[in-house]
Amino acid sequence: MDHRPKYRLIVAVTEDWAIGKDGDMLVRNPCDLKRFKRLTTGHTVIMGRRTLESLPGGRPLPNRANIVLTRSGDAQGEGYRTARGLKEAKALVASEEDEVFVIGGETVYRSLLPWVDECLVTLHHVRRPDADTWFPDLDAIDGWTLSEREPGGTTPDGTPFEYLTYVRE
Ligand SMILES: NC(=O)c1ccc[n+]([C@@H]2O[C@H](COP(=O)([O-])OP(=O)(O)OC[C@H]3O[C@@H](n4cnc5c(N)ncnc54)[C@H](OP(=O)(O)O)[C@@H]3O)[C@@H](O)[C@H]2O)c1
Repeated sequence: MDHRPKYRLIVAVTEDWAIGKDGDMLVRNPCDLKRFKRLTTGHTVIMGRRTLESLPGGRPLPNRANIVLTRSGDAQGEGYRTARGLKEAKALVASEEDEVFVIGGETVYRSLLPWVDECLVTLHHVRRPDADTWFPDLDAIDGWTLSEREPGGTTPDGTPFEYLTYVRE
């Protein structure tokens, strides 16, 4: 039987499932960024072209195999490979890879959700109705169930957060 890596989606949300504004994240959370780095290092990450542009210097993440979804054929850069669609992205994942992380943004989360085995959600206890990008409300989608809830802490600006894990029922 073919080896299939585990597909994990990792996202930071607010209570109203907002994830971004003006091409940037909504909450500064160094502790969550460290956890993101620890979990994803050594693995494959799949992201949209706009999320790549939002990374420091517009550069891919070090020590990870970066796959960037874009429909523009000429987009190419150092340290990442591009895929023009979901099938192409899947085909670029190394055959020996154990874990693939879907790291955003909204468009990519929504299209890859049906492939994903598990969602790692950092929930910030704040609401951001002014956001311009959103994650689907997993509590309202059939087939997803909350399996773990761990305390996270408090961000430097005083926003409490927790780590939630959703799995397929
Ligand atoms: N809170 C979090 O955890 C988190 C994580 C990541 C990102 N974000 C935020 O999310 C926002 C960006 O989200 P977004 O939805 O605007 O952009 P995005 O999903 O990062 O990128 C969208 C682009 O990806 C390409 N794309 C998407 N689906 C594709 C497909 N099926 N086939 C080929 N190409 C595809 C297209 O690129 P082309 O236009 O080049 O064709 C599309 O314009 C930012 O504010 C960012 O900070 C938040």
